[in-house]
Amino acid sequence: MEKEIISWIYEAAERVKAGLGDALKVDQKSGRTDLVTNVDKETQAFIVSKITAFDPAAKILGEENGQDQTPIDQGRVFVIDPIDGTLNFVMQRENFCIMIAVYENGVGQLGFIYDVIRDELFWGGPKVGKVFYNNEELSPPENRSLGEGLIGMNLALYRKNINHAQEIGNQTMGVRVLGCAGLDLIAILKGTQIGYISMLSPWDYAAGSIMMKQLGLPFSGAEGQPLSFQGREFFIGATSAVMNQIQAFDKEKH
Ligand code: IPD
Ligand code: CA
Ligand code: CA
Ligand code: CA
Repeated sequence: MEKEIISWIYEAAERVKAGLGDALKVDQKSGRTDLVTNVDKETQAFIVSKITAFDPAAKILGEENGQDQTPIDQGRVFVIDPIDGTLNFVMQRENFCIMIAVYENGVGQLGFIYDVIRDELFWGGPKVGKVFYNNEELSPPENRSLGEGLIGMNLALYRKNINHAQEIGNQTMGVRVLGCAGLDLIAILKGTQIGYISMLSPWDYAAGSIMMKQLGLPFSGAEGQPLSFQGREFFIGATSAVMNQIQAFDKEKH
């Protein structure tokens, strides 16, 4: 299955790249900065057509095209974020990725994050027992603590200091706002960020969390509880050391 999914992702990426110079049809969703383009919708439809031909019984949980309410825990579910970082895609034509995850009865089996412009594919999970960076097996990153690295955050969460985001950020080497959850999760896998704190929907964290788990990296909701896979929720993913520090910090400050 992984070979097929990789080929769909590369094919989808070629289509996205071929249209990079074209005018986009951009619509607003919940507001001025929450956008969707024809490329988001077409990419999801393309991936869904490949999935349906491959496994007609599979279910789809995808951000676009009205497919965003599917439960994660019944049968085989493909979770799709066709363009993660849509605002970057519209404004920069880079710093976005394509993400797919496969869940079987609620258990993550495979995750894929493809940084289209940098041609960097991260993929893996329990089904293959490993995580790969293109063709190379990825080792778990160093277990660095808050003071030893950069942390990714959602800007609104940082600005409003939700769950001590500013105090946590102040203890790190610096806060980064990439505007693309997939790239933040890639950065944790690679070890270029020690963590990521955000408000996310299931398709934002599905693929990345499968690969994090495979590498022994923890992730959770605000109080350390498992993610719900329903709606938008607070997300923390980090090295084990940083996760322990954030949890201890939260207890101290409450
Ligand atoms: C968004 C991006 C962004 C994150 C948002 C996501 P989208 O995904 O990943 O970085 O802060 O929470 O919704 O809408 O561009 O796929
Ligand atoms: Ca979106
Ligand atoms: Ca997203
Ligand atoms: Ca998206």
